[in-house]
Amino acid sequence: MKFFADTADTADIKELAETGLLDGVTTNPSLIAKSGRDFMEVTKEICGLTEGPVSAEVVALDHETMMKEAEVLRKIADNVCIKVPLTIDGLKTCKALTSDGTMVNVTLCFSANQALLAAKAGATFVSPFIGRHDDNGFDGMELIRDIRLIYDNYMFETEILAASVRHATHVLESARIGADVATMPPKVIKALANHVLTDKGIEGFMADWAKTGQSILK
Ligand code: G3P
Repeated sequence: MKFFADTADTADIKELAETGLLDGVTTNPSLIAKSGRDFMEVTKEICGLTEGPVSAEVVALDHETMMKEAEVLRKIADNVCIKVPLTIDGLKTCKALTSDGTMVNVTLCFSANQALLAAKAGATFVSPFIGRHDDNGFDGMELIRDIRLIYDNYMFETEILAASVRHATHVLESARIGADVATMPPKVIKALANHVLTDKGIEGFMADWAKTGQSILK
C-alpha cells in the first residue's frame, strides 16, 4: 500500500520524505489556503521533495478552462498529477489528459458508480472520501469495498486512493480491502507507529539495560 501525505505543509512533507515511507503527496484548494503560500510556488517545492505523484487540483468547473489550468499545472514538474472533480466536465478532462500520458486524480468520489466512471475515463487515481462519507451517515469503508470489487471485476488499472482518512482504523480497513493508496494528514501517518506496548517495552528494556552498566558505542 502506498502512503501519500495529504498536506501542503512542506516542513511535514520533508520530515516524512526523510523516513523513506512517503510515496507521494495530495493537495487541494483548502490545503493550499491553509498553507498561506502561493499555489505554483508551494506545488513546485513539494514536487522537489518527493519523486512520487503530487496532486494539484484545477479550480475551473468547465472542461475548456480545466484543460487550460492543467496545461499550466503540468509544466510545474514531471511528477505533477492533475486533480479534477468527479463531474462530467472533470471526467472529460481526465480522459483528454490521460490519453496524452498525464497522471490524473479524480477527486470528490462518493459513490461506486462515480468510481466506475473515473476508471472508464482512464483515471490514474480515484479518490473516494472515507471520512466525509462517514460524517454524513454512510459507511466509507463499504464504498472502498464496492470500488475494489468493481475494479477487480473489470481489471481496471485505476488506483484506489483512499482519501479523507481521519485515523488509523481507516488505514487498516483500507489495507485489508486492498486500496492501492491511502492519503492522510502527516499526523495520521506518524500515529500508525504508536502502540502503548511498544512504549512500555522500550521503557522495560531501557531500565534493564541501564542495570548492565554497558554501552554499545565505545
Ligand atoms: O484527500 C482529501 C482530503 O483532503 C479531505 O479530507 O479530512 O478534509 O475530509 P477531509
